[in-house]
Amino acid sequence: MSETDPAAPVNPQWGGRFAEGPARVMQRINASISFDRRLWRQDIAASRAHAAMLAKAGILSEADAAAIAQGLDEIAAEIESGSFVFREELEDIHMNIEARLVERIGEAGRRLHTARSRNDQVATDFRLWVRDAIDGLDQQLKDLMRALAERAAQHAADPMPGFTHLQIAQPITFGHHLLAYVEMFARDRGRLADCRKRLNECPLGAAALAGTSFPINREMTAEALGFARPMANSLDAVSDRDFALEFLAAAAIAATHLSRLAEEIVLWASPPFQFIALSDAFTTGSSIMPQKRNPDAAELVRAKSGRIFGALMGLLTVVKALPLAYAKDLQEDKEPVFDAAETLSLAIAAISGMVRDLRPDLARMRALAGAAYATATDLADWLVRALGLPFRTAHHVTGRLVARAEAKGVELAALSLAEMQEEEPRITAEVYSVLSLESALASRTSYGGTAPENVARAAARWLAELSS
Ligand code: ARG
Repeated sequence: MSETDPAAPVNPQWGGRFAEGPARVMQRINASISFDRRLWRQDIAASRAHAAMLAKAGILSEADAAAIAQGLDEIAAEIESGSFVFREELEDIHMNIEARLVERIGEAGRRLHTARSRNDQVATDFRLWVRDAIDGLDQQLKDLMRALAERAAQHAADPMPGFTHLQIAQPITFGHHLLAYVEMFARDRGRLADCRKRLNECPLGAAALAGTSFPINREMTAEALGFARPMANSLDAVSDRDFALEFLAAAAIAATHLSRLAEEIVLWASPPFQFIALSDAFTTGSSIMPQKRNPDAAELVRAKSGRIFGALMGLLTVVKALPLAYAKDLQEDKEPVFDAAETLSLAIAAISGMVRDLRPDLARMRALAGAAYATATDLADWLVRALGLPFRTAHHVTGRLVARAEAKGVELAALSLAEMQEEEPRITAEVYSVLSLESALASRTSYGGTAPENVARAAARWLAELSS
């Protein structure tokens, strides 16, 4: 059998004018059932809503609508139990379910496709699927935020070095660092919520592209499926996939945040940092180096962001040059979205697990928080505050004091008052009070700053918000 031999008889659902079935390769490239079977729940829900509306509008008899509803329930049970046979020659989920309906209930089943097309059908199913995916991811992100906020509350006052350029910059608290991610994931939820709101309009009833001559009631199907309203333009309804692109864009940004946190977990767990340890549950061993403990889960979260970015780029490319309205290219919209949603869900679950699992080495973080002249900015700020120096001058004086300390191999606080006064005669002993780690942290009470009291308050506020 060659790829160009017919694969199957003519498709009874559209084959009236066809004498021969498709070539095998045609069937293979055309079929989407291997992946769009995931839309079965949405497809059945949309068909139920459509049939009920057709009956209400007098387009279908009540008896036929009842037979359709019952037949669809039975098909749902077959799919649920695994007994349903998905057939490639029936192309996609829509025709697999419809063909089975006709098998089960006969003539009435053949009336279901009145006043609709697979074009509005698939657009409806897919919107419903993305809406469900958003709801699931939203709950997962909320759980991750809770995990982070709990740890932030626990470590609101524990110092760690804050970095810029990955150089030790100023002391911060571990809780403050964790809450930065809570803010990021809150915005990710916001982006998903915005996307959900905009996608929540119903394409059903747009039919193939132009609407229909049947007296359908699009408000009724929209409402039955939980949409806010029907989509206003039939061409737009069947041909745009901006809702999927927006979802992928939001997913890509969330994946970026997850990847940055994953990268920090990798760094923190490495021997040069030793800020945290991960348990056996979230690490793997090396097959050759018995001493190793590798943060594979974090590395994979970091890497999986690439798949999600790829999904966005891929779908943008599919859609960008398509003339209106529907074209089969749009069948390529589903796999990237399914994969991205699944990947993002796995990545969030893995990061949540690691956030709960990690054990910080608080002594190590504290030691490095005060290292590398991390309180130099506090010294400069004191020169401004106590002596009225312009900040640029204070910066320069402090730089010279750091150079002195560095030459002696000591901390700033280990310079004598006399040494300090050689650089700036008006310096008094009060300066030593700002050079400690504790005072550096406690002084940063500006809104959004790292002072332990701020961090404790912010963590408590998040925990209260996330518990509702
Ligand atoms: N499986 C198709 C898709 O995913 C359904 C729509 C097919 N429409 C058509 N006119 N061939 O896009």
